[in-house]
Amino acid sequence: MTRVSIKDVAERAGVSTATVSHVINETRFVRAETRQRVLEAIEALNYQPSAIARSLVTNSTQTVGLVVSDIRNPFFTAIARGVEDEISKHDYHTIFCDTDEEPVREEAYLKLLAARQIDGLIIAPTGVYSERLVQMVNAGVPVVLIDRTSPGIEAPLVGVDNEGGAYQAVRYLLDLGHRRIGLLAGLETMSTMRARLYGYRLALESANIPVDEDLIVPADPRFDSKLNLATSGSDFSGDDQETPSSYHAFQRLLDLPDRPSAIFAANNQIALGVLHALKQRNMPCPAGMSLIIFDDIDWAALFSPALTVVRQPTYELGQVAARLLIQLIRGEAAQAPPPLPVELIIRESCARFTPGYSTTGPMVRQLSKT
Ligand code: RIB
Repeated sequence: MTRVSIKDVAERAGVSTATVSHVINETRFVRAETRQRVLEAIEALNYQPSAIARSLVTNSTQTVGLVVSDIRNPFFTAIARGVEDEISKHDYHTIFCDTDEEPVREEAYLKLLAARQIDGLIIAPTGVYSERLVQMVNAGVPVVLIDRTSPGIEAPLVGVDNEGGAYQAVRYLLDLGHRRIGLLAGLETMSTMRARLYGYRLALESANIPVDEDLIVPADPRFDSKLNLATSGSDFSGDDQETPSSYHAFQRLLDLPDRPSAIFAANNQIALGVLHALKQRNMPCPAGMSLIIFDDIDWAALFSPALTVVRQPTYELGQVAARLLIQLIRGEAAQAPPPLPVELIIRESCARFTPGYSTTGPMVRQLSKT
């Protein structure tokens, strides 16, 4: 079946192809009677305007790029939901890319998106310098950073108060009497992780507690990470294909002669490695180890004990970033809001410090059946 062309529509409506194009793209005034004839011809022939042809006329593809760094992390899927719901309100479509925290993939996707002539970009960057991203910004492509910054990139950032959230989390543990608090700190290339580490340090300083650097261990923030962390001077890559780097990083804290009584996991995926190790060692939570997580995830409340978290407004982050990008695409003078607030959600996974924490006892109970 041959594809209906703009020429067919023009002939049926008795107008020029230029008139049909002006009606479709609203690029020039067309008399109501003529416009109606064209629309009726389009309807009768079931004409599907070529997106490429339209973009040549309107200089817009009506598409934006959304680049996230770990699709397996529910934080990013919630962000994607917020972006898509908002973007689609403005008749834009989203091209979704997942870099898996890999700078090489990030560059490849940015090259692809540039070739697709996207109208704008929302990106949670890997945090490693990106020449492609610099080129896009310098070329005037509207770019909104979400969650994290990228070296050398001057673009609005829609993010949260990572430092304040980490400070709250550690102060909460201190107020419970914990003095040796382990931090599984993610990767230093991520501005979010650097901010959380800084909040951790500030909280200890506020309590006049010297920071024991042995209690701070980097961990890959992806659950299925096979990344060798040698780049950060510590190799906690999973030595088997089943356990993530955070599992091994946490074991290092547990093997300290003076182990921590509480753990602060810098994101939800790192927390999974902690829970795996606690279960394997039959170490009860919170009786044997208190645990607090940066990120609230649906399953956090379903665990037994239900997990105490620092909640990020993930869906709202996506919405705010999308609204800002639409404003920039329209050429409006717009800027990012201040960091969105986070919220400490106290559930059951932290307990008051008591000397002689048990290292045995009931397994970390299974996910509650409810
Ligand atoms: O789990 C996602 C969160 O952890 C995000 O803030 C991301 O930057 C990582 O730090």
